[in-house]
Amino acid sequence: MENPFRYGGIVLGPYFADRQKEIKELKREVKNLSRIFLVSPRRYGKTCLLFNLMASLKTEKIPVAYLDLNAYPDIRSLAQGYALQTCKALETNRDKLMKRLSGLKHFTPRFSLEADGTTIAAELISTMPDKDALTALLEGMQHAENLATRKRQKLVVILDEFSELARFNGHTMEKALRSQIQTHQSIAYIFSGSEQSMMLAMLRDRKHAFYKLGRIMELGPIDRKTYTNFILRWLKKGRITASHQDLQRLFELGVNIPYNIQRLCYNMWDLAQKHKKITSEILEELPDIIARQDSPHYEIIWRTATPLQKKILIALSQEPELKPLSKEFALRYQISPPSSIKASLVSLMKKGIIYRTLEGNYRFTDNFMPYWIEAMI
Ligand SMILES: Nc1ncnc2c1ncn2[C@@H]1O[C@H](COP(=O)(O)OP(=O)(O)O)[C@@H](O)[C@H]1O
Ligand SMILES: [Mg+2]
Repeated sequence: MENPFRYGGIVLGPYFADRQKEIKELKREVKNLSRIFLVSPRRYGKTCLLFNLMASLKTEKIPVAYLDLNAYPDIRSLAQGYALQTCKALETNRDKLMKRLSGLKHFTPRFSLEADGTTIAAELISTMPDKDALTALLEGMQHAENLATRKRQKLVVILDEFSELARFNGHTMEKALRSQIQTHQSIAYIFSGSEQSMMLAMLRDRKHAFYKLGRIMELGPIDRKTYTNFILRWLKKGRITASHQDLQRLFELGVNIPYNIQRLCYNMWDLAQKHKKITSEILEELPDIIARQDSPHYEIIWRTATPLQKKILIALSQEPELKPLSKEFALRYQISPPSSIKASLVSLMKKGIIYRTLEGNYRFTDNFMPYWIEAMI
């Protein structure tokens, strides 16, 4: 039997654990044409949740356009993606789609045959100057709204990794999008983002255009009991014995982050093949196994870190609760002055190696990295 614990990509259907409540709630909200900001740290399963939501909306024939802002290097490409995805969601008939796309001022549609020889692929091309890209994006948004209204359909637009918006020309774009979105009557929006502090600032800070535009839904960890049952069900299918009690250790090792839990389960499944039983030895072995699997990645991080950054990473791996900007930290690890600690923290955050929690602690983005550091020093 194939390993049922998938990680890394989009996890769907029977391999996707729980989140039934969240899907139901999101569904109810989009049907009410709400604007929802879905916020959580990375790897909590927002993208997976959104894909499962889309699958569910599809069964009800509710059109959805999904855009991952990470996938668009600039406003021009985002404008193209936006116009194309929203039109495709609303118009499945090829001729009609072509007609709709031709209605766009800033773009010219082009259709080509896919490699399979039967599917027709549509794309938009444009020769507009860069300065018109934002106008083109707004045109596409208005076009989607008009089309949905004309068809008397509700359209759901999902903008994943929404905090990436700051990468495009920040406040100007925020303002323009807000005033566009505010007028929409036929589109529900889900904005999803992992940069928690930035997302929350965007929404709560009066200076930001998204202030109070919609409701915040914070995605927490998966309910433990339901997740445990999910894991037990798969183990049982694979004829592996385990108790509810044993599995609780997984949540500690994976600090409740779904990506981590899946990864632990994946390796646990493999290790258990020999004796078909989950033991505490197996469980305790898992983090080091994963840390070893990822060591090439950690080695690159380590090689490019400054001596001070290395010291901080070592300290954080040993005492995650100690605040790096406290006196105690500087004393204990003989690091000073605070200004250079601060600069190193900022740099480590920029590189995505650590992040700051809302409580002001610094955590490894990758929870297995401290195990690698421990094994190394
Ligand atoms: N409900 C779930 N069931 C199973 N695996 C999940 C679930 N949620 C998240 N995961 C795992 O976590 C990984 C990261 O999830 P992802 O949706 O990319 O997180 P985010 O978008 O919040 O960063 C997925 O590849 C998957 O392995
Ligand atoms: Mg994601």
